[in-house]
Amino acid sequence: MNRSKTEKRIKKLRSEIARLRGAYHVENAPDVSNDVYESLSRELKALLQEYPEFNDLNAPENRVAGKPLDKFEKVKHQTRMLSLNDAFSYEELYDWEKRIKKLLSPSPLQREGQGGKVNYFCEVKFDGLAVSLIYEKGVFVRGATRGDGFIGEDITENLKTINSIPLVLNSLPISPLSGGGEVSNFPPDKGGLRGVAPAYLEVRGEVLMAKKVLIFLNKQNEKEGKPLFANTRNVAAGSLRQLDPQLAKERNLDFVAYDLNLGAKLPFGSLAPKFHSEKHQMLRELGFKVEKLEAKCENLEEAITFIKKFEKVRPNFPYGTDGIVISVDNLKLQEVLGVVGKAPRFMAAFKYSAEKATTIVKDILVNVGRTGVLTPLAVFEPTMVAGSLVSKATLHNMDQIERLGLKIGDTVVIEKAGDVIPKVVEVLVRMRTGKEKKFKIPGHCPTCGGKIEKREAGPLANFSPLRPSSGALGSKRDPRGQKIREGAASFSVAYYCSNPKCPAKNERYLEHFVSVFEIYELGPKILRRFKDEGLISDATDIFTLKKEDIAPLERFGEKSADNIIAEIENKKKILLSKFLWALGILHVGEETARDLAIHFGTLEKLLSSARQPARNVTQRDSGGDLAEIDSIENIGPAVLKSVSDFFHDKNNLNFIKKLKKNGVVIEKAEKIKAGKFTGLSFVLTGTLSQMSREIAKERILALGGKVVGSVSKNTSYVVAGAEPGSKLKTAEKLGVKILSEEDFLKMLG
Ligand code: IVH
Repeated sequence: MNRSKTEKRIKKLRSEIARLRGAYHVENAPDVSNDVYESLSRELKALLQEYPEFNDLNAPENRVAGKPLDKFEKVKHQTRMLSLNDAFSYEELYDWEKRIKKLLSPSPLQREGQGGKVNYFCEVKFDGLAVSLIYEKGVFVRGATRGDGFIGEDITENLKTINSIPLVLNSLPISPLSGGGEVSNFPPDKGGLRGVAPAYLEVRGEVLMAKKVLIFLNKQNEKEGKPLFANTRNVAAGSLRQLDPQLAKERNLDFVAYDLNLGAKLPFGSLAPKFHSEKHQMLRELGFKVEKLEAKCENLEEAITFIKKFEKVRPNFPYGTDGIVISVDNLKLQEVLGVVGKAPRFMAAFKYSAEKATTIVKDILVNVGRTGVLTPLAVFEPTMVAGSLVSKATLHNMDQIERLGLKIGDTVVIEKAGDVIPKVVEVLVRMRTGKEKKFKIPGHCPTCGGKIEKREAGPLANFSPLRPSSGALGSKRDPRGQKIREGAASFSVAYYCSNPKCPAKNERYLEHFVSVFEIYELGPKILRRFKDEGLISDATDIFTLKKEDIAPLERFGEKSADNIIAEIENKKKILLSKFLWALGILHVGEETARDLAIHFGTLEKLLSSARQPARNVTQRDSGGDLAEIDSIENIGPAVLKSVSDFFHDKNNLNFIKKLKKNGVVIEKAEKIKAGKFTGLSFVLTGTLSQMSREIAKERILALGGKVVGSVSKNTSYVVAGAEPGSKLKTAEKLGVKILSEEDFLKMLG
């Protein structure tokens, strides 16, 4: 980005961040997730680092969020309530350490024999609301929100409803030097000493709502038809701002303490804390709830170990958290390091990497899949999401671009949870400059220039199964991660390259073919090389490859040639179900291929059924044509049509013939042993309570029976679960025997 573009972007970012801030901190009604807000802030920070001339002290990012609301009394904080600087990677933590070590050298602790060593203290960073509690002579007198850091709101009455905020502190065995002296209503401490309380004490901490309380409240809201709360932080914030403390009480809030401040000049006696870790201990003794997951660390490596350890338990932690606060433990060093701007230099907030981030879409490319389907791919400025740098994401299909309203140049939200493929989930329309470009569906294939056709697409078209499948777990998932059943799900429109010889299509097909045949030695790069060298032109040539063809190629040699040939030889025998899958018939994925294979047993039987006249194939129960395929459960009209089309195409039949000629042996479908269900056909309808439909099907198959999709006179039994569909009525009409779930279970034995 050039200078003037950067300036414009900075302005856009500022105004959007300010808007989100207002929504988040003042109205407590964020319309965008915290991750998005932070991602935009991070970009702004990075741009300002590159172009410091655009820094503006009055800009919103230089203020601590949140104006006090008018409804509550305003309170001036005795010391400013600060923010923390964030670190989003271990590298940033090391940079932070480098900076502080430089400032601490020579070490102010030299005289104490501690040299340049810096010890850290790690604690959980809670995602709630910072509040300040004032205790005078051990009694809670006032509590306030952070507000803008200088002035907050007096929410004492609401805070008093929180059980984990002590109204009277436990005594500390400290000397009255603290300026406090004995307090009559102060309980005697356990050691028999008369309790003493400091005259003034400020405790800072976070007001929170436990995750399970939110779940409970939302269940109630649902019952009462009220809108649901978005997250614990919002409800906690909203509750604290209720003018009626009774309402706040009903919200069951919690408080965790993390800091302790003493009145400006008052000494705390000989037991004044010297370390941040000691403050935590003291807070506990005073009667506050302090998180027990914390760690004193000798160095940054230990702090990182703590960060990793907490990351594991974080999803099940009872409260919302967004990171770890790392502090220089020694308070003397903290003082030396001081505060810069609105954040202390002696603390850093390590933020766990977000599952959402924002970035700018630089371009939308188009890939050609093995069925010829065009798949748009968003290419963007690399951004960190869920621990990895992401620079592209599939948009699945053209519809998706429409749905998102995505244009090239847009600022978008990327989501990536765990090891899930990143996806574009939202366009931030407010970030537009007017220069964004609409994406046009190409009229010609980007690889071969072939004409593009609009067709109905099955969900399978979104995937090219390049990785070998891991059995049932390898089944496809739709863009939302839902398991899909090819041929059975809803269909959308997609664009295809119509050229049967399209090299991109062929390349994808080859990759698919070898992965289903499990010829792992032939990865995409080798396949491309063999194609370029003229060793193979289509998948059938793989089986005629010879060692002598491969060994002379540069970077191959005898050994790898041997390995490749041996692997191909080994994989020549293939199960019918896999063979059908490998053919790449439109809408026939792994599971549909298995259904077809189990049903027909041999390729010949399938062929003879599929090659019946192609008339009426989209009409169910048309009486004759392809009726057998049509009757298989889970096979819909689109699959039926594509299977029929496929086997009516001479090229495909030649392809199969050539494969067989070249040594491919198709093994009969997984042999179903003859059992008590041999010769019987079942139709399942409704929901079974004891087992899923899939399992019921497997049990029937295992006993030699067949499961079919529609009821006919020839059906032996209809198994009717709860809420059966129209199949039950048809069965009654045709006089087919109906089994209840109980009957069926008895039959299974
Ligand atoms: S230390 C200098 N410790 O994070 C002010 N803050 O981003 C930092 N927070 O305003 C205080 N848990 O609301 C500290 N264990 C913790 C925290 C914590 C949550 C919040 C606090 C603060 C914000 C700064």
